[in-house]
Amino acid sequence: MAIKEKILVTAALPYANGRIHLGHLAGAYLPADVFVRYSRLKGNDIIFICGSDEHGVPITITADKEKIKPKDVIDRFHFQNKEAFEQFGMSFDIYSRTSNQIHHETAKEFFLEFYKRGMLNEKKSWQFYDEKAQMFLPDRYVEGTCPKCGYDQARSDECEQCGSLYDPSELKQPVSKISGQTPILKETSHWYFPLGNYQDKLMSYIAEMNEKFGWKDNVLQYCNGWFKDGLKERAVTRDLDWGIPVPLDDASGKVLYVWFEAVLGYVSATKELGIEKNNPELWKEYWQGKDTKYIAFIGKDNVVFHCVVFPAMLMAWNEGENNKYILPQNVPANEFLNFEGLKFSKSRGWGIDLHDFLAKFSPDSLRYTLALNLPELRDTDFYWKDFQARHNNELAHILGNFVNRTMTFVHKHFEGKVPPIYQLETRDTEMLETLEQYPAKTGALIEKYRVKEATLETMNLARAANKYFNDSEPWKSIKVDKERCATTLNICVQTIYTLAELFYPLIPFTSEKIFKMLNTSVTDWDSCGKYTLNEGHRLNTPEILFSTIEDGVIEEQLHLIKDETKRGEKEPEEEQINIDEFDKIRLRVVEVLSAEAIKGSDKLLKLKVNDGYKTRQIVAGVAKFHDPAELVGKKVIIVSNLKPAKLRGVESQGMILAAETADGKLKVVHPSDDAKTGSRVK
Ligand code: 2FM
Ligand code: ZN
Repeated sequence: MAIKEKILVTAALPYANGRIHLGHLAGAYLPADVFVRYSRLKGNDIIFICGSDEHGVPITITADKEKIKPKDVIDRFHFQNKEAFEQFGMSFDIYSRTSNQIHHETAKEFFLEFYKRGMLNEKKSWQFYDEKAQMFLPDRYVEGTCPKCGYDQARSDECEQCGSLYDPSELKQPVSKISGQTPILKETSHWYFPLGNYQDKLMSYIAEMNEKFGWKDNVLQYCNGWFKDGLKERAVTRDLDWGIPVPLDDASGKVLYVWFEAVLGYVSATKELGIEKNNPELWKEYWQGKDTKYIAFIGKDNVVFHCVVFPAMLMAWNEGENNKYILPQNVPANEFLNFEGLKFSKSRGWGIDLHDFLAKFSPDSLRYTLALNLPELRDTDFYWKDFQARHNNELAHILGNFVNRTMTFVHKHFEGKVPPIYQLETRDTEMLETLEQYPAKTGALIEKYRVKEATLETMNLARAANKYFNDSEPWKSIKVDKERCATTLNICVQTIYTLAELFYPLIPFTSEKIFKMLNTSVTDWDSCGKYTLNEGHRLNTPEILFSTIEDGVIEEQLHLIKDETKRGEKEPEEEQINIDEFDKIRLRVVEVLSAEAIKGSDKLLKLKVNDGYKTRQIVAGVAKFHDPAELVGKKVIIVSNLKPAKLRGVESQGMILAAETADGKLKVVHPSDDAKTGSRVK
């Protein structure tokens, strides 16, 4: 018997500011649930923690927009998400909330511990302030023109086009994304956590964990990116009135930064779980037990907070006199799942949320399809047609069919009881050997967070089972050799049992139905590939596990998403200009003479163009969507009087016009073929 482990599993706390969609499930929640369900069947002592992340600016913005209180927003989404997760089969031990008192206390305790030790540096800085909205603006709510390259959608302190970092006071033409007005710079003071001091320790910690437990490459790459840039101190407070108040006398109007406290939500939720179970010390067994292994499931956008910020906070805590916390042993973050080829987008209405999905389809069909499409290595897509095909061709026609044909046969010919086993032939022993190998085979994959392969393999067993049934031809043997037929059906019933167990982490509702038909229940993982159901054991009446999804149902969904995108596409608000202002902008037809990629950039192309008078060099951000060669010889339009600027160190003497296609690609705009090179576009 393997040594049982004590395991703490957390899944990212979703913001209570929107509904859970399929992208969230594929990023973190489904893999976590599969891992937890499997680990429980292995007999481990495991707890599974999640809850709503209920602070942060976006919640206050939703509340202002809807003219309600932040508390109303979080109540709405917390309960909706909790319910949807339950329907999807997430087997959390607790689904807590960061607005709970116990969490406020835990977060304040951390802050004060650091503060009292003199670790937090109080510093003044100038931040953008929206006078209309009466709030300081977080970086992503300010947009302006980059002082270095002129990119006009640069963030308040960072340009994603040229990668420069600058002081917010240098950003040109800043605009508040909240009110659309020009924000002012206002002085404020905040407390900073010395993240930079932990860089070396973090690097050794990650290297050690990777060596022992094999971290995913994508996660290591993100971490290395952060380390390469060098960790710097980070403000752990914000000017906001929604959140956990900074527990100091001179800090009114300031709250703890949402990320500083959200990660501690895992600890608070565990405390709450202990209280529910009348064991207030329970959390310590997991968070401070030296033999506990902690696995944190998240999506890729959360890597820095779970692999850098949170471990650094725990390391800092552990330098003090108090009991020590354990650090994540692994953070198996997934990449993103797209929807029908495009990113999920709430504002554009692109995607489907879990709630709506489950109103029409079964959770297991979704779990199965997502499991096969998990973005474990790279971004993947959810397609309705693929969903239909997986459901119909695999769940219904392979798994459902095998279970149904076996159960019906046993009821018809063996009075609904497990038939006896007689003489084994080669095919039988091979099938029994396959069964016996399976739990270890798929279990090892799940332990390495390779859920996609585990799912493929498990369905392969159902395929093998159908083949065994077909090759054994029980419909013939029943007439001529009942003992042979009984042996075949006995093995088929044992196979159903094994399938039900192996599928349990993946499609638990279906497994439970199968166990009910088998008149038994799930047991431990390691014994499921063995001979489990005794001869004569009574089986219940079979029921159909999956009915086919018709084409019309899928067409309807496809139609719906198209309509929703239309509804989601609001006309943008545009500032009006007069004709004189427009006249200042000179657009000119030019001909592309040569085009080449720019080293070190996957976005930029360097073009040489004939502008009608001379040759100029233009840098264009269209490399992802155009092969350089396809542009050569074509006419395009440029803004010809834009001040030259350098992009990635390459001078651009103008800007090329491009437009987004329906599927989100940025393509160069071409004038008509007979447009004269050098002529002005008016
Ligand atoms: O990305 C998100 O939805 C965050 N609310 C995740 C937080 S995870 C942890 F820090 F709580
Ligand atoms: Zn820039």
